[in-house]
Amino acid sequence: MKLCIERVSKQYGRKQALDNVSCELTEGVYGFLGANGSGKTTLMRILAAVVKPSAGRVLLDGVDIELLNDQYRDVLGYLPQHMGYYKNFTVEKFLFYIAALKGIEKNEAHVRVEKLLEDVQLTNEKRVKVGKLSGGMKQRVGIAQALLNDPKIIIVDEPTAGLDPKERIRFRNLLSAIASDRIVLLSTHIVSDIEYIAKELLILKRGILIEKAQPQLLLGRLQGKVWTVLVEPSEINVLQAKYKVSNMNRKNDHLEVRILSENKPDPRAVEAIPNLEDLYLYYFDEEAVK
Ligand SMILES: Nc1ncnc2c1ncn2[C@@H]1O[C@H](COP(=O)(O)OP(=O)(O)OP(=O)(O)O)[C@@H](O)[C@H]1O
Ligand SMILES: [Mg+2]
Repeated sequence: MKLCIERVSKQYGRKQALDNVSCELTEGVYGFLGANGSGKTTLMRILAAVVKPSAGRVLLDGVDIELLNDQYRDVLGYLPQHMGYYKNFTVEKFLFYIAALKGIEKNEAHVRVEKLLEDVQLTNEKRVKVGKLSGGMKQRVGIAQALLNDPKIIIVDEPTAGLDPKERIRFRNLLSAIASDRIVLLSTHIVSDIEYIAKELLILKRGILIEKAQPQLLLGRLQGKVWTVLVEPSEINVLQAKYKVSNMNRKNDHLEVRILSENKPDPRAVEAIPNLEDLYLYYFDEEAVK
């Protein structure tokens, strides 16, 4: 299976939300990173066939998804960034309703709904109205509806926003378990969501796809540029003014500061192993970060 994004651009009035994006996706998890407004949702909406690109096209195994139309939607699962729910439906009823919209046969729908309720740990809440759920629970209903039709292509836009750490781990495991024969595209601001499961990271900056590579390869580029240094709290301001600081840890009465710098920032500094948080800062330092 191959999803081909060919020179895709999207214009909203004068705003160029996507600028000539091209890439190929095959089975596996792709982590989609970008600062606010960089065009992640726009590209995902195009891949989910919700909006059309202003230019360019998307091909599934060589066929334009616009031509495939319903055939494409049949193999697609999409969790929008801001999903609308039917507040007065119970969790179960909502999922059956979506299943019917997707044309899933009744018996099959029962089996799928039961299984997914378990996967997202909402079996006990199945008779609760969606409007009464917590934010994280609603998000899990959203995840379940995206997986109802056993999709081959899964597009999830910030799926872990609002989930607590335990739920995030569960979701990550669920995705990586089903990703081997599917294309999964996941956008997030939480780098630990994708650190271990993404086969490639796509990095979008102001509508331009600036990187598409294995996490290890991108991290390798930061080798020798990440440092930690133990300082007095009073030294922090000077360091922050001068360097990109990716983290700070209190160590007794000192602070361990993590710094991104081409050169050794301080005689006391020691080299650290780059992680995705560093990478995020490296690419998006000057932009808004959630
Ligand atoms: N329907 C729309 N009409 C006009 N402008 C839009 C529309 N949708 C998106 N934009 C603009 O396109 C740009 C990209 O937005 P998009 O929502 O794709 O970014 P994003 O990377 O998903 O951001 P976030 O991290 O905040 O979700 C932004 O400047 C946004 O204001
Ligand atoms: Mg978005």
